[in-house]
Amino acid sequence: MYESGSTGQDQRQGSGLILGIESSCDETAAAVVRSGSHALSNVVASQMALHANYGGVVPELASREHLRNIVPVVREALSRANVSFADLDAIAVTAGPGLAGALLVGITYAKALTFGLDKPLIAVNHLEGHIHAVLMEARDRAEAPMELPLLALVVSGGHTHLYLARHSEDPQGREAWTYQNVGRTVDDAAGEAFDKVAKLLGLGYPGGPWIDTLAPHGNPRAVPFHFGQIKPRIPSATTTYDLSFSGIKTAVLRYTQTHAMHDSIEARRHALAANPALKPSSPEALALLDPQTLDLIASFQYAVVGNLLRQTFAAAAAFGVRGLVVSGGVASNSELRRRFSAEAARRGLPAAFPSLALSTDNAAMIAAAAWPKFLAADFAPEDLSATPQLRLG
Ligand code: KG4
Ligand code: ZN
Repeated sequence: MYESGSTGQDQRQGSGLILGIESSCDETAAAVVRSGSHALSNVVASQMALHANYGGVVPELASREHLRNIVPVVREALSRANVSFADLDAIAVTAGPGLAGALLVGITYAKALTFGLDKPLIAVNHLEGHIHAVLMEARDRAEAPMELPLLALVVSGGHTHLYLARHSEDPQGREAWTYQNVGRTVDDAAGEAFDKVAKLLGLGYPGGPWIDTLAPHGNPRAVPFHFGQIKPRIPSATTTYDLSFSGIKTAVLRYTQTHAMHDSIEARRHALAANPALKPSSPEALALLDPQTLDLIASFQYAVVGNLLRQTFAAAAAFGVRGLVVSGGVASNSELRRRFSAEAARRGLPAAFPSLALSTDNAAMIAAAAWPKFLAADFAPEDLSATPQLRLG
């Protein structure tokens, strides 16, 4: 049995192989990562096509798909890494946040594996995983570690959070990461806004890649969207780094209504339903868009990225951070990367993004986040369960 807080770090390091398992939403993923820095494999079975029929993730269907995929995905991750179960030092699994039924599939399977193999189980917060995707890739490139504290913007379909990340080391050199949530969305996540706006404009699912691809064809200053003032959570505070994305979705809807765009939206929706495999980058997809809609798309993206940028850099200045990490599905947005990189360079602040493959949900990030916990023998209890609302910091 593995208990938290035991000693013997050197013996424990072994070959440093951790199998990560992720099933919090609509991707069944498994990966083998060595010493928190190098992914030997990274397998993701996406359910995107299944949920696209419904315009969003259907929890019951997601759980069933995870159950179907989990064994082959884990097998594939081991096979691509060319390792066996016996070679592993530990198994890490996402414990939350996410869909309860989806999380339970990964957790139950990881528990069964660790029980059968007599290996330690490590519980990882999905949001911490997104942050460690970036740190893992930087380590793999043998870059000097980013100085701390870091500000991490985790921006995806389910989350929009700003965290101050630090780590402490005990005399044995074991590190523990700590996080302080300094800002978050008070309503929709940024990715949710991309998905909902794409849906109401008759575009495909998920909406982020559609809007990202089409926005350069429109004028980002055509429709000036404004973000209202958000009340600080602490009544005595004068500033907040919180965000809100439900207002802009309503503003886009209202714009389509006042500009009589209904018929063209429905025509596009039907055309796409008849050809669901159409890629946003194809000329056929672009042909479904009129200049007015392209301007609206460009203006929406410009405003959302601007809002994320303003709040992130305000928090970065206020907390005197030494580096910035942006992660999660929306971090693959090209305008976001361009504008965040330019602003960070202007301020002399090192900024890092994950590769596109590690921006969206994956299990390499779970295995990477588990590495410091493995070294600190911070193992999950036998009664580990799913925590759909699990918080970080
Ligand atoms: O991290 P992720 O795979 O899953 C969650 O944990 O939510 O993020 C998925 C989200 C979706 O809302 C999707 O529309 C958005 O990330 N997304 C993007 C882009 N690619 C994915 N949003 C904007 N631009 C993109 N290129
Ligand atoms: Zn995610």
